[in-house]
Amino acid sequence: MSFVERVFSGVQPTGNLHLGNYLGAIVNFVKMQETHNCIYCVVDMHAITMGMDVWGGPAELARTTREVTAAFIASGIDPKKHIVFNQSQVSGHAELAWIFNCVARMGWLNRMTQFKEKAGKDRENASVGLYDYPVLMAADILLYRATHVPVGEDQKQHLELSRDIAQKFNNDFGDSIRSHGAHDGMLFPLPEPLIMGAATRVMSLRDGTKKMSKSDASDYSRINLTDDADTIAQKIRKAKTDPEPLPSEEKGLEPRPEADNLVGIFAALSGRSKADVLRDFGGGQFSSFKNALVELCVTKLSPIAGEMKRLVADPGHIDAILIDGSDRARAIADETMKLSKDVVGFIRRR
Ligand code: TYM
Repeated sequence: MSFVERVFSGVQPTGNLHLGNYLGAIVNFVKMQETHNCIYCVVDMHAITMGMDVWGGPAELARTTREVTAAFIASGIDPKKHIVFNQSQVSGHAELAWIFNCVARMGWLNRMTQFKEKAGKDRENASVGLYDYPVLMAADILLYRATHVPVGEDQKQHLELSRDIAQKFNNDFGDSIRSHGAHDGMLFPLPEPLIMGAATRVMSLRDGTKKMSKSDASDYSRINLTDDADTIAQKIRKAKTDPEPLPSEEKGLEPRPEADNLVGIFAALSGRSKADVLRDFGGGQFSSFKNALVELCVTKLSPIAGEMKRLVADPGHIDAILIDGSDRARAIADETMKLSKDVVGFIRRR
């Protein structure tokens, strides 16, 4: 079976969306719309895998689900031409995840570094959902038989697992898949990660060796998409640097994680390469580079924050977008579920 190219990706509605989510993922979501049919999902079922203290409880989950939707649209995702929806409205995600639970191996999941990081020392107390999270993620992608998945670098290992699951399913059920009409015995494509741009791993503004994350206790570690101009300026001015002037060549950034991070952010926001940015700022002090970075961040992010504010003020409108998107997503998902059930041997109403 040759697969029609299709893009799928997801963002969790937990805490604050930040510059890492924007540059590592959302900017590329926007770009992919020009060349592909795209499905962008607010993955509310993934959000509840952590403790309620992390995702904030039912009212907060609904609020952040709408906020992420607003961020997609404010950043330039078109929910009419493409599909924007929240995961829990399409039951196929959970159904396919169950089938994949019986395909994926414990040994594969035991290697997932994100589970180890998120579960921390108290692994016995982590939810089963957190452990199983990458299997649900594979189901998210393969429910739409998506071929391309734009993500930040931290999701690479999960994408490899999705490919392993797709391949094992195709192998295990190859004869059945063929008997249901796919002559090459492939029900699922092996999805390709698209890790693009100059900021595939945006680091904390307080520590260039740590990823910028929603869960960092310090708000100064990240720029949130909802921050106002003054807050952005303050955070960048306080961002950790080192005493040396900026290097003139990219190689000079290698041993300097904070400088590398700020130059990467500048490059990604301005659509230039790091080398190009260093041509302008190499040899100069951080203070003047930071001034330019503040201006760039405010110019790029303020309109998004303004538009998000306008959108979240009308939750009914956002909910209507999510319902419409879910209806269109479900139409595609239902086809995959019918095929998957037939291939596995589950009897269903015809
Ligand atoms: P999540 O919600 O943690 O992050 C959403 C997207 O933002 C990227 N990202 C970053 N990129 C660069 N630098 C950073 N510091 C940074 N932090 C986050 C992530 O790589 C991601 O692309 N498991 C996913 C959500 C998901 C998904 C999927 C993604 C569920 N199902 C299916 C793709 C396909 C996650 O937790 O992303």
